[in-house]
Amino acid sequence: MILENKINLGFLPTPFHSLPRLSEKYPGYMIYIKRDDNTGLASGGNKTRKLEYLLHEAINQNCNTIITAGAQQSNHCRQTAAACAAIGLECHLMLGGSEPDKYDGNLLLSYLLGAKIHFSGEKRKGEDLVWLKAELTKQGKRIYKIPYGGSNIIGALGFVNAVGELKQQLDDRHQKIDYVFFASSSGGTQAGLMLGKELFEMNFELIPISIDKAETVDLSLEQAVLNILSDGKKILGIQRNYQLEDISLVKDYDKAGYGIITENEIYAIKELATTEGILLDPVYTARAFYGMHDYLRNKKIPAGSNVLFWHTGGLPATFHYADQLKSKT
Ligand SMILES: Cc1ncc(COP(=O)(O)O)c(C=O)c1O
Repeated sequence: MILENKINLGFLPTPFHSLPRLSEKYPGYMIYIKRDDNTGLASGGNKTRKLEYLLHEAINQNCNTIITAGAQQSNHCRQTAAACAAIGLECHLMLGGSEPDKYDGNLLLSYLLGAKIHFSGEKRKGEDLVWLKAELTKQGKRIYKIPYGGSNIIGALGFVNAVGELKQQLDDRHQKIDYVFFASSSGGTQAGLMLGKELFEMNFELIPISIDKAETVDLSLEQAVLNILSDGKKILGIQRNYQLEDISLVKDYDKAGYGIITENEIYAIKELATTEGILLDPVYTARAFYGMHDYLRNKKIPAGSNVLFWHTGGLPATFHYADQLKSKT
């Protein structure tokens, strides 16, 4: 089975548990959390699941050097650097912008994890990877290129598998979930969850919260998700014909733009931190959590629902945004 084509990098299964004190604040709802902030690889996050499949393929293709791209505070890049260090592959990261005077948050961790860091100026979504690949190939390295955010069908398999993991946890507890909220940005997590929902016949509704209003390289996020679904249904033997209309995406909370911290994100971080002692990251999970808060506060989903927040990690970026997080509080 294709879902077995992985290496083990993470602490899986991640915990699934209830949030009793948070639930008290939203009468009518029971809120649960899936702790992918605890997947390991230098402080956890959703990319661990993708990297288990991507690096399995890299090793199978006899590659010895991984290249990928992202923002300077990319969790994907930090986790890729950690995974490469753990299994002995060379790692090159193409990061947007120019080199900062001070390394902090994820950038600092990527550096400490031994990644070779390149800066790509204006191009923050991996446009320069073609050039980097050619350059390193000339040096005799065997390159495996991981797309922006690890979002292709191979990476998405991590989240197909994650649905099977959640199903087992729910079955063990005789528990049902009605809605799943999560942050969606480059599409791999969303596509994987959609394929997993189909494969494992789960009935919950996915509510992906859009994080970045800009397009993913040259595609809309919906189109990027659809492309992964089309690849995925073939290799997973899923019969369903996905259309663009099948891809839901809540765009109500991304207006400030990527990586811009507003009162919403700060509210979300403080709410979960002070009611449950769990930290969200300011860029992704805080925005998604704020979306869930808005849905529950305004009763946009039926009372009596069991709601899951899928925590996708990102903690190190908190330290990069320290000034905004403290001065606005
Ligand atoms: C913490 C965190 N949550 C969610 C996401 C979104 O995942 P995806 O890119 O698969 O849509 C990312 C991706 O960068 C992330 O770092």
